[in-house]
Amino acid sequence: MTAAASAAHAASADPVSRLDGALRTAIAAVTGLPAAECDPQIRPSGNPQFGDFQANFAMALAKKLGTNPRQLATDVVARADVAGIADKLEVAGPGFVNVHLAESALAAALDSFDSPALGIAPSGATHAVTIDLCGVNVAKQMHVGHLRATIIGDTLARVHERLGRKVWRENHLGDWGLPIAMTLAALRRASADLDSITLEDLNRAYRAAQMEGRDDHAGMIAAQGTKVGPHRIAELEAQNAGAALAQEDARATLVRLQSGDAQLVAEWQKIIDCTMREVFETADTLGVHLTNEHSRGESFFREKLGPTVEAFVKAGLGTEDDGAIVVRYPDRERPMLIRKRDGGFLYATTDLSACRFRVQDLKSDRVIYVVDARQRDHFKDVFDAVRMIGWTKLPDGTEAELIHVPFGSVLGADKKPLKTRSGENFTLRALLDEAIERGTREVRARSTDPNAPTAGMADADLAAIGRAVGIAAVKYADLGSDVTRDYVFDLDRMVSFEGDTGPYLQYAHARIAGILGKALDAAAHAPPRPTITVAEPAERQLALALLRYPQVVRDVAQHLDPSRLCAYLHGLATTYNGFYQQCPVLKCEDPALRASRLRLCAISKHVMKDGLGLLGITAPERM
Ligand code: ARG
Repeated sequence: MTAAASAAHAASADPVSRLDGALRTAIAAVTGLPAAECDPQIRPSGNPQFGDFQANFAMALAKKLGTNPRQLATDVVARADVAGIADKLEVAGPGFVNVHLAESALAAALDSFDSPALGIAPSGATHAVTIDLCGVNVAKQMHVGHLRATIIGDTLARVHERLGRKVWRENHLGDWGLPIAMTLAALRRASADLDSITLEDLNRAYRAAQMEGRDDHAGMIAAQGTKVGPHRIAELEAQNAGAALAQEDARATLVRLQSGDAQLVAEWQKIIDCTMREVFETADTLGVHLTNEHSRGESFFREKLGPTVEAFVKAGLGTEDDGAIVVRYPDRERPMLIRKRDGGFLYATTDLSACRFRVQDLKSDRVIYVVDARQRDHFKDVFDAVRMIGWTKLPDGTEAELIHVPFGSVLGADKKPLKTRSGENFTLRALLDEAIERGTREVRARSTDPNAPTAGMADADLAAIGRAVGIAAVKYADLGSDVTRDYVFDLDRMVSFEGDTGPYLQYAHARIAGILGKALDAAAHAPPRPTITVAEPAERQLALALLRYPQVVRDVAQHLDPSRLCAYLHGLATTYNGFYQQCPVLKCEDPALRASRLRLCAISKHVMKDGLGLLGITAPERM
């Protein structure tokens, strides 16, 4: 933690921050170092026997000062004023300090944590965050790769918003250039009716156009073996020499489209609308916040491509290479092509322009690209070029971070990219339909148990819960695994109410809702904010787990890793279950203690719902 951050924290009632302050002061007094260099390194303890937290500063600091770590720890403990924060500090092993928090401090912290903000203070950041997500291509169906780009991007957007940042969700649609012109040309040749066309038709036309315009199979196979990503492949597909007629037609169409031919532009818009109808519908099914206002596709940057190349040339960074313009890098052979010999621009040229726009016009100090790992080289090239030309500088001199979040593939049981039984690519729609069907089946089956909270519910309500379960299953499995790794899509495991799954967490939340519902009658007579007691070890563990939530949310934003939130929520559900088993709640006879425990239940429910909300997972009250 930086000195400024720790100062901000010290003002709050959070016992860990207060502890940080007290130990920091003591370390500074003992060592004579400035407070900023006296990080006490407080970590949650792995075993409650050794206290609630450990302060691990002594080892590294003693090494630096050439003293004995155990002695240093002992001196700091003797000096530290932790009255009202900790009951006991004890030195263990080579110099660990075990901290046993005071019950009153823990209870007070939880009391102030119990608010709509749940301890998350709005960030004071003045700049925005841009999140490049979804990234569909017009006239092509969404497939499972887009699932990841969409839901990981949405979660990162929600997390930054939760921390009080202004977020720009940018869906960088592939809606410009030769591939789309090719599809458009093919549709025109076939006199297709663009008013009644479906995305499936478009997808077919796209593929057919691709086949028509292709003759260099060997070149394509070679390109597919490299890590250029689907978009560049499409470009290559479109650029392959031969099949002259279709090519020529496509090129002519592109020229007319680019020069703003009204008829063509209107047809082009229809293709976009058709694609986006399905994209928004899918986003809606997924509970992802994505609408037209987030669509700033490649076409948006079309006027900026020429000036972008000129800027690179003028800066001496864009150089001629056999009639084309490339950017070269000091540390690698591979140049980046930004203008072709025929004057055409590339995917990379658009990304250079978009990146500048995001930093300088959208005023973002973080630009996060949630895109397939196969585009790693592409983003490395783009980011380095943008940094070289200085477009990462914001007006106030802040240097923007450009980050690629490279996600792995979704695999089938055979560990190969997920395919349908007939060997086709799975469309996202088909996959979600199946998940919803499975979720609904599970929820209906459970409702036949007369003791189930869902027994006797109307069929439409069961269907809504089933839908939520199916979507949660898919999203949690995706967000819960290491972003960069491939993972195996296994609906049986994902949809289970047991184990590390989305439905398990939804169920944990619904169970708490059930308990609170049963207590409602009695609660009517209880004070609105009963005093919290955390005397029992299980109550303590639950309180500590709840108080960790704000840090987890900050960690997800910092490391761009939603799996940390998934792991936290799963751990919280487990800790809550431990509490519920060890501490009677509804059957507790002491009314004050019962009220306190009910409040612990309510706070747990609140955190669970808030956390699931950041993952874009709904939390039904009954399951
Ligand atoms: N449409 C691209 C593709 O399918 C993904 C876009 C990603 N975002 C970006 N700024 N390049 O490969």
